[in-house]
Order: sequence, then structure tokens, then C-alpha cells
Amino acid sequence: MRNELTILKIGGSVITDKSEGAYEKLKEAELKEVCRAISENWKNLILVHGAGSFGHPHVRKFGLSSLGASKVHLGCLRLSERFCSALTEFDVPAYPIHPFLAYTAKIVEKALRNGFLPVLHGDVVMNERIEVLSGDDIVVHLAEAFKAGRIGFATDVDGVYDLNGNVVEKLDRTLLEKMLAEIGENKGKEDVTGGMLRKLQRLYEMGHKCSAYVFRGSYENLKKFLQGEKVGTEVII
Ligand code: IPE
Repeated sequence: MRNELTILKIGGSVITDKSEGAYEKLKEAELKEVCRAISENWKNLILVHGAGSFGHPHVRKFGLSSLGASKVHLGCLRLSERFCSALTEFDVPAYPIHPFLAYTAKIVEKALRNGFLPVLHGDVVMNERIEVLSGDDIVVHLAEAFKAGRIGFATDVDGVYDLNGNVVEKLDRTLLEKMLAEIGENKGKEDVTGGMLRKLQRLYEMGHKCSAYVFRGSYENLKKFLQGEKVGTEVII
């Protein structure tokens, strides 16, 4: 049984094909499995999803001028629409929130209070200039704002890997620092592992402590995570 407020990010690679050349390619079967797992346990949950091939290729192709950002955002919007429609097919009252328009913890809180499942996503945002806002940053922000009890990152890998290719069961700050230092000297692996570890580094900078998990976004794993069980790599913050 899970009571504490939980934030779950579904990485873009779980629900879209992010391989070279893929453009707005949805993984329909995987999306359904994700929605099925969520539909079984979505109370007290905030959902965030990545942009996958509905966002990253657009940033590369169109850039972040106002016209570029407009196109990037519309791509993200199309994925949000597909995801939220799929959730409603499973009787989940999805409440889509688009960071490009504006999002605040207050809007998210209002949606929760009214019985919705808030669904946010990686997007473009207007700060001093137009920039890309990753779903991971949204998770960190909301975890702080809501003092979340539990956060999860569903990805297309089994967890955080060490440099020998094994999934780490528990990752603490000391181990993370050590791995980051090793990656610095190990350029070949920087892309895959480096990206993930640097994302995790943000968790340690967060002004709030809670349990966090990185795991493969399969139906079984999502079900476990949403039930309050351990799954994948546990990040000790
Ligand atoms: C990226 O969001 C947003 C854009 C590219 C506009 P994420 O960083 O959360 O997306 P994924 O999970 O890597 O696909």
C-alpha cells in the first residue's frame, strides 16, 4: 500500500522510439502497458513524461527561436495528447499541464484536489530566454514543492549501471561521485552513463530528501513502484 505523494517520470524512450532518424514515433504497445499499470494505482500521484522523438529531433531541426520553440512545443503537445488520451481510455482522469503555457505547484495541487491525475511533460519554456525544460527538472521542482515521499524514473534500461555494466542496487552520494569521477576519465561511456548520472546528481542538490528509483518502465516494474515496493536502482538521497 502506498500513501505518500509520489512523482513518476516516464522517460521519452519508454513510450517513443528515440533511435536515429525516428520522428514522432510512438511505441503504442508500451504506452498501453504504462497506462494499464498507472490505471491500477494513480491516487496521490503526479505524472511527468519526457518528449522522446516528439521533442528532441525538433530542437535539433528547428532550434529555439520563437518559431523553432513553437514547433518544438507543438510536437510535445502531440505526445501529451496521445498519452492523456490513452490514460482516459483506461478511465484515468488525466489533467494535461503544459509548461510552455505556465505551470506552478498551485495548478498541480488544484488538479490533485479535484480528483485528477496531473500530467506534465518536458517542454520549451520562456525564462530570460527560451530554453528546453527537461521532465527531470520538473520532477525535482515538484518533489521539493510537495515534499514528495517517493519519486521514480522509468527508463529503457534496468537501472543505473556501474562501469562494469552491472545494475547498481543502491546508489549513494559517495558512489555517485566516484562514478562521475571515473566517467570523466572514460570518455567512451560518457554518453549513456554520463547522461544518467548527471541527471541523478541533481537529486543530490535537491532541497528535500525522499526515496528515488530508476528502473525499466515495464508493466511489472511500474506496478511494483506504484505499490510502494523497491525496483531497479534505489537512489539514497
Ligand atoms: C525534453 O524533455 C524536452 C524537449 C526536448 C523539448 P525530457 O528530457 O524529459 O525528455 P526525454 O525523457 O529525454 O525524452
